[in-house]
Amino acid sequence: MDEKKKVMLSGIKPSGDLTLGSYLGAIKNWAERAEQFDCYYFMADLHALTTRQNPADLRRRTLEQLAQYVACGLDPEKNTLFIQSHVHAHAELGWILNCYTMFGELSRMTQFKDKSKKNADNINGGLFTYPSLMAADILLYQPDYVPVGDDQKQHVELTRDVAHRFNNLYGETFKIPEPYIPKVGARVMDLLDPTSKMSKSDDIGNGRIVLMDKPEDIMRKFKRAVTDSETGEHCVRYAPDEKPGVANLMQIYAACTGKTYDEIEAEFTGQGYGAFKIAVGESVVETLRPIREEAQRYMKDKGYLEALCRTGAEKAEYIANKTLRKVYKKVGLVAAVR
Ligand code: TYM
Repeated sequence: MDEKKKVMLSGIKPSGDLTLGSYLGAIKNWAERAEQFDCYYFMADLHALTTRQNPADLRRRTLEQLAQYVACGLDPEKNTLFIQSHVHAHAELGWILNCYTMFGELSRMTQFKDKSKKNADNINGGLFTYPSLMAADILLYQPDYVPVGDDQKQHVELTRDVAHRFNNLYGETFKIPEPYIPKVGARVMDLLDPTSKMSKSDDIGNGRIVLMDKPEDIMRKFKRAVTDSETGEHCVRYAPDEKPGVANLMQIYAACTGKTYDEIEAEFTGQGYGAFKIAVGESVVETLRPIREEAQRYMKDKGYLEALCRTGAEKAEYIANKTLRKVYKKVGLVAAVR
């Protein structure tokens, strides 16, 4: 009874290599939902353009991201996987929703403020209106849930506000989606600076783990991870404000092993940070090993990836265009006669 299934949708920008944060905060939770929901996941390549990209790298990374989605367990038979720019309705509804999103709302977005600081020489219009495009990405598919990490919650909330505004003006058009935030893994922090988010960027940072990292690199990075100077029986305990480095490692370990924080504290009672960091590193190596191996296989088969993109975009387009037609009519655009 596919029609009755609730709908789930999410996307990731191919602006850098996928990290352990992208996996634990987002993809892992998507992969676990395919039976229960009708799922749409895409590579948000239009969003990646809000910061400068090397064109060849962006193309490569977009296809690699698709290979990694599949390797992470997103079965293309059960999930609709596609490239955002292949479904033109995203850009079209994005423009319309720009006209229903307020300057004040966009100015309040934390990500806009952060990214403007980081890209002070390129604060372009796209960076500012990005949440309207994200609202379009979401609302086109009338999803019930949008599974994202903590940092995207504000954008999903804005999407809800824009959808309400539009529905109030024109009558029921969009379903109001709920953000779906994982209990553990919602904010994986940088291993060397546990007060900032682990992010995908182009530099080879020792504070971030990317899905394609080799086991020896993962172990090296975990051995160097920042903790604190506490010693004694119970130094491994969950206290995010006081001990952000340890809390981050515990979060990663919990997400990779399924253990609770109490179980982890008991497991490491009487042990120092050295043994703890090795255990966390090993759990990540084992979690990522099959993903890396599968992704490498798919990446060698460009024909397969291109075929996936084509079928995914066709399925997505069918749904997206239905919503777009409705919106065009409601706002007063003349239907094209072809
Ligand atoms: P992006 O590409 O920055 O991140 C993709 C997803 O990964 C989550 N995430 C994290 N979770 C936990 N810890 C981290 N360190 C971490 N880093 C990233 C993010 O919360 C996100 O869920 N605007 C979006 C992409 C997008 C989108 C959409 C998402 C475009 N359109 C429509 C949902 C629905 C973005 O830049 O995510």
